[in-house]
Amino acid sequence: MNGGLPVAPDAVLNQKYPFTLPPLPYATNAVEPAVDAQTMGIHHDRHHAAYVTNLNKALETQATLHQYTLGELLMGLRRWPAAVQTAIRNNGGGHANHALFWNLLAPGAASAAAPTGKLADMITRDFGSLAALNAALKTAAVGQFGSGWSWLVKTATSRLAVRGLPNQDSPLLEGELPIVGIDVWEHAYYLKYQNRRADYVDAMLTRINWDVAGAQVE
Ligand SMILES: [Fe+2]
Repeated sequence: MNGGLPVAPDAVLNQKYPFTLPPLPYATNAVEPAVDAQTMGIHHDRHHAAYVTNLNKALETQATLHQYTLGELLMGLRRWPAAVQTAIRNNGGGHANHALFWNLLAPGAASAAAPTGKLADMITRDFGSLAALNAALKTAAVGQFGSGWSWLVKTATSRLAVRGLPNQDSPLLEGELPIVGIDVWEHAYYLKYQNRRADYVDAMLTRINWDVAGAQVE
């Protein structure tokens, strides 16, 4: 990441206190059938909203942190007062992760486009093929014990890698740029898929907006 803040396809990493919930960039039914409208609505309006509310509560009395962006708060976690590190990790991570997640899903019935340009070249170099990358993302998603995310990241040495991270841990905590994230908390899929996480992951891998993902590495 060359030491600087990543350029995200959404502006949320540049938000400062007080943080705000961006609207969903499409209707709640726009990613059906992969994500049903009820799950989409609850996930955004209640779960994501709660991360924003709780992040603001935690930072309300931390005036010295109000000058920092969300991206800076996550990347610099170990520099902040111990009393707020967990709240920033969980709720700041939850805010950043979900804001990216909504933008990464392609609305509409048509298949999402395949990666192009620099991202396509990096996938070929580091995984061999999109199919191999998708298989790695699925393995990390299905294998994540409990709640967490499967991530495609750009490492500090500008390689692509897949990570399975617990809870709302952002790749930014380790200085890695999130490119694609698949939320495997049960709140993301249980209403429609119940315990069939693998089926949910298969569906999500057909809905990735690769143009948005590719904008992260340009
Ligand atoms: Fe979630």
